[in-house]
Amino acid sequence: DPHTHLLTTTGILDSKFGFSIETGDAEIAIEKAIAQPSLNTEGLHFHLGSPIFELEPYSEAIDYVLEFAARMRKKFGLELKKFSPGGGFAVGYVTNILPPGMGEYASEIVTAIRSACDRYGLDEPELIVEPGRAIVGRSGVAVYTVGGIKTIPEVRTYVSVDGGMGDNIRPALYESEYAVVPVDRPLAERNHTVTVAGKFCESGDVLARDVDLPEPETGELLALPASGAYCLMMASNYNMQTRPAVVLVNQGTSRLIRRRETYKDLLASSIDFD
Ligand SMILES: Cc1ncc(COP(=O)(O)O)c(C=O)c1O
Repeated sequence: DPHTHLLTTTGILDSKFGFSIETGDAEIAIEKAIAQPSLNTEGLHFHLGSPIFELEPYSEAIDYVLEFAARMRKKFGLELKKFSPGGGFAVGYVTNILPPGMGEYASEIVTAIRSACDRYGLDEPELIVEPGRAIVGRSGVAVYTVGGIKTIPEVRTYVSVDGGMGDNIRPALYESEYAVVPVDRPLAERNHTVTVAGKFCESGDVLARDVDLPEPETGELLALPASGAYCLMMASNYNMQTRPAVVLVNQGTSRLIRRRETYKDLLASSIDFD
């Protein structure tokens, strides 16, 4: 169990993904795959979920799957040429929860594979890794403009912005957390606890709950760092809203690489009828 959110975990028994070793499905899958003349069964893969802030789930799963590989070699002659422990390497979203470094993930994985191969008498397979988030997560920054501000005395202050679950579904879908940075005054004293709410017509459309900021002002820009993975690629036209523009920034220069959507874009696939 990689101890990530229930909706982003895959390495547990109760999952719609994969073939379970525990139920015997994986064994049946290997037997069938090896018997198929049109398939080359070159190795095994697993993906535990994402983001995984711990190292142990990788070594535990590697040992479990390589022990299974050794059994499958004995039973069906499986040759483990390739092996992938998937992706799931975490990035820092909030300042107080930092992920292990890439070197730490690598060393945990390689050490676990070497010792399991040794333990179960396997040749070391070619290692394949599948990082997604760790490559692009921190390369994207979402920038929003503050609109209305609603203060409910003794309860909460909602700061509405001009985006939300349409461009970043993660907080609404699985309670992901983000840091929020006031773009024009990043170092100002953060003496107000507020909730940054999206513009979409759902109470669950909240981008960041109970974050500390300087007193928010309508019209100012708020940035959510680490928005490069699983945000725009999972964006939608929820409530028939248009998706934002994308600007590439590099060494002090910037270039528009995707224009803002228009209402005309939303109707582009509609077919005229009489
Ligand atoms: C099979 C598989 N491998 C790798 C990944 C990438 O995960 P991450 O972006 O967390 O590294 C995913 C993401 O869903 C996946 O399903």
